[in-house]
Amino acid sequence: MSDPRQRGATALRRGHGLRIGRRILHYDAVDSTNSRVLALHGDGVVVAAEAQTAGRGRHGRSWHSAPGQGLWMSVGFDRAIDGLLFAAALAVRDTVRDALSGRGCAVSLKWPNDVLVDGRKASGMLIERRGGRTALGIGINVHQQRDDFPEELRDRAISLDMAAGRELSRWRLLRALITHLDRRIATVEAEGALGAWTEWAAACAIEGRRIRSGEEEGVAIRLDRTGAIILSTPSGVRTVAWGDVVEQHAF
Ligand code: BTN
Repeated sequence: MSDPRQRGATALRRGHGLRIGRRILHYDAVDSTNSRVLALHGDGVVVAAEAQTAGRGRHGRSWHSAPGQGLWMSVGFDRAIDGLLFAAALAVRDTVRDALSGRGCAVSLKWPNDVLVDGRKASGMLIERRGGRTALGIGINVHQQRDDFPEELRDRAISLDMAAGRELSRWRLLRALITHLDRRIATVEAEGALGAWTEWAAACAIEGRRIRSGEEEGVAIRLDRTGAIILSTPSGVRTVAWGDVVEQHAF
C-alpha cells in the first residue's frame, strides 16, 4: 500500500481541493437543504436557500430558518468522509472568526459542532446519511436582531450582524465557508482525520465539563477518536456519542 501522505499529495495535485461548490443551487424556499442534497447526486454540490420550511436541527429539533436572515446551506457527498465532523466544525469556526475579525468577539467551538460568539450560538451543523449519500448541513445566523429569534432562544442565540455591529454579506460568507470547507475536507481526505481531530478536540475544551446525557450525569474526562465524550459518572466510566448529550456546563 502506498504512503497515505504521498497519496494525499497526489490527490491534491489532481485538483481534489476546490471541489466543493463547483455546482451551487440557490432556492427561495425549500423544506430542508439537507433533504435536497440527499436527493441529488454528485460530490460537493451545494444547496443554499433563502428560507427553509422544515429546517432540521440535532436531536430531532427544528431549526428556525426565517427568510433572508441566515446562511442555510448543505453540501452533498456520494460517500462517507472520515473526519467530516471535525473538518466542518473547524471550517465554520474559522469562517465566523474571519468575518468578525477586529470586532473583539470571542469565537469558540462548543462540542460537538456549535459555533459560539461571546458564549451564544451563532451556528449549528447537522450531518445526515441516507443510503450512500452524506449531507453536511450548516446554519449560520447572519441578519437577525434579538427579537427575530424565538423567545426561548433570545438569551442563547446571536447573529453575526449583532456581533459585528453592522450588516455582513451572506454571499461573501458563503464563498468564505466554501473555501474553508474545501481546504479542511481535502486535508482530512489527504492526510486522515487525526490532525483535524486533534485541533477540534483542543478547541472543544471538554475536559472537566459537567455533562448530562439521558439519565446520566458526570464529568467529561476526554474525547475519543470518534468524537465521543468519555464521561466519569457515579456509576462508572461511560462513552457518550456525539448525538446523545443534552446539556453541558463548565464548572
Ligand atoms: C443544530 O445545531 O441543531 C444543527 C442545525 C443545522 C441547521 C442547518 S440549516 C441548513 C441545513 N438544513 C437543515 O435542515 N438543517 C441544516
